Amino acid sequence: MTHMNWQKRLDRWNHVDLCTGVVGFLLVASLFVGSFLCSDYKAMTERLKTAGMGAFRSPFSSLVWRNELPGFLDEAGEGCDVFDGNWVWDEQYPLYESRDCSLLDGGFRCSENGRPDTFYTKWRWQPRSCNLPRFTANEMLERLRNKRVVFVGDSIGRNQWESLLCMLASAVSNKSSIYEVNGKPITKHTGFLVFKFEDFNCTIEYYRAPFLVVQGRAPSGSPKEVRTTLKLDLVDWTSSKWEGADLLVFNSGHWWNYEKTLRGGCYYQMGPSVEMNMSTEDAYRRSIETVVDWIYTHVNTSKTQVYFRSEAPVHFSGGDWKTGGSCHLETLPDLAPDFSQTSNHQMILIDVLKNRSSAVRGKQLELLNITSLTGRRKDGHSSLYYLGHGNGQVPLHRQDCSHWCLPGVPDSWNQLLYAYFLKHEIQGQEN
Ligand SMILES: *[C@@H]1O[C@H](CO)[C@@H](O)[C@H](O)[C@H]1NC(C)=O
Ligand SMILES: *[C@@H]1O[C@H](CO)[C@@H](O)[C@H](O)[C@H]1NC(C)=O
Ligand SMILES: *[C@@H]1O[C@H](CO)[C@@H](O)[C@H](O)[C@H]1NC(C)=O
Ligand SMILES: *[C@@H]1O[C@H](CO)[C@@H](O)[C@H](O)[C@H]1NC(C)=O
Ligand SMILES: *[C@@H]1O[C@H](CO)[C@@H](O)[C@H](O)[C@H]1NC(C)=O
Ligand SMILES: *[C@@H]1O[C@H](CO)[C@@H](O)[C@H](O)[C@H]1NC(C)=O
Repeated sequence: MTHMNWQKRLDRWNHVDLCTGVVGFLLVASLFVGSFLCSDYKAMTERLKTAGMGAFRSPFSSLVWRNELPGFLDEAGEGCDVFDGNWVWDEQYPLYESRDCSLLDGGFRCSENGRPDTFYTKWRWQPRSCNLPRFTANEMLERLRNKRVVFVGDSIGRNQWESLLCMLASAVSNKSSIYEVNGKPITKHTGFLVFKFEDFNCTIEYYRAPFLVVQGRAPSGSPKEVRTTLKLDLVDWTSSKWEGADLLVFNSGHWWNYEKTLRGGCYYQMGPSVEMNMSTEDAYRRSIETVVDWIYTHVNTSKTQVYFRSEAPVHFSGGDWKTGGSCHLETLPDLAPDFSQTSNHQMILIDVLKNRSSAVRGKQLELLNITSLTGRRKDGHSSLYYLGHGNGQVPLHRQDCSHWCLPGVPDSWNQLLYAYFLKHEIQGQEN
């Protein structure tokens, strides 16, 4: 497709967006006026303040000037930081309904599991200085013909993978033409799952590797507190299956903490030696370096587009996951214009990518720098709604403020992935 066509398509969308956006804004606004009427004024202003609603004008104003923005895929959109922007209300969202998508864990089906509000499905990510291409499932499937998309990482990566499955499946009318190639059900704790979209001969795959590197038995003669080790210089055993992918999307971070490693006797190993004093952050850095080095030796970066998604923040307040932290009362994003969030893992990732890609020639590894935009979405988590009907009620102190409801926030990560994917495709055609 040429730039001209893109431009036309975007212009058309922007026009539609503007109208629906205004309607959407009025809808939310009237909702707020409504809540003013039936709630105590002071409590409400507090709520607005904490929700960043001092900036409630911002989604509206961005809708007004958005029309003049260049498209990310246009020449004028070159260099646009698509991760800098804000969430805007969009009546055309969500992109799919969980009840129409069988390719989804029960744990992400918040609305079906009883979550009463649906605002969290209605926000679209809007970069400050350019427009993203509207997600078109058919377009993506066509371009993925005979290709493999591979996600590698932890359960948040799985969250994103399932989101993409549903986003793409929404364009396929014969649902039985989408299936797991080994007949495995989409339940938790399988090592990997490969879903095929038969009509497009395309597979969307997920490999569970929460550390990206090998976790295994401690070398003999280790101190007795060492039960297992993470072999920081060895990529996960499933890596041979990642090779040859056309899109490779990595993530990690949530398991790189004291609780999930050292506390349980899992130490860090380099070569034959257990590094008793290595910090978790240093170990994380080593693991990313190992993966990047593996990419440059095993992956043809002219063929394979490689993405690293930065860490998605958690939103436990008043405790953590095991001490009663909660997020179930959050129904709105943080729209304050000056909002910014980083994480140590994100900064280490950025650092390693910068260091390693300057050292090696070849196509760039892309960073999906979603930490900050995701940090705004404390309203997007599964919280109390990760158990299906008939499984009883989740106690208030056992909330999930790490994973995300679907449809929801990971859909936007995939739209950013889609934007980069198209950009690479277009560049590939021009060369
Ligand atoms: C289907 O896609 C795979 C790559 O994922 C490719 O190797 C194979 O040749 C394709 N089959 C057909 C019939 O095009
Ligand atoms: C749907 O897909 C299945 C699996 O490939 C196939 O057997 C069936 O004939 C298809 N149905 C229609 C109506 O195309
Ligand atoms: C590890 O730390 C301990 C206590 O801080 C220290 O006694 C020991 O010498 C250190 N070991 C190494 C190999 O640095
Ligand atoms: C890498 O991929 C490109 C594009 O598919 C291809 O032309 C090239 O031959 C490949 N290089 C190697 C070393 O396989
Ligand atoms: C890149 O990483 C290597 C190995 O970890 C390190 O020695 C070097 O100082 C780093 N370079 C930069 C520019 O950060
Ligand atoms: C990624 O986003 C953070 C904010 O979360 C920002 O500070 C940083 O500069 C960005 N890095 C890159 C390489 O885009």
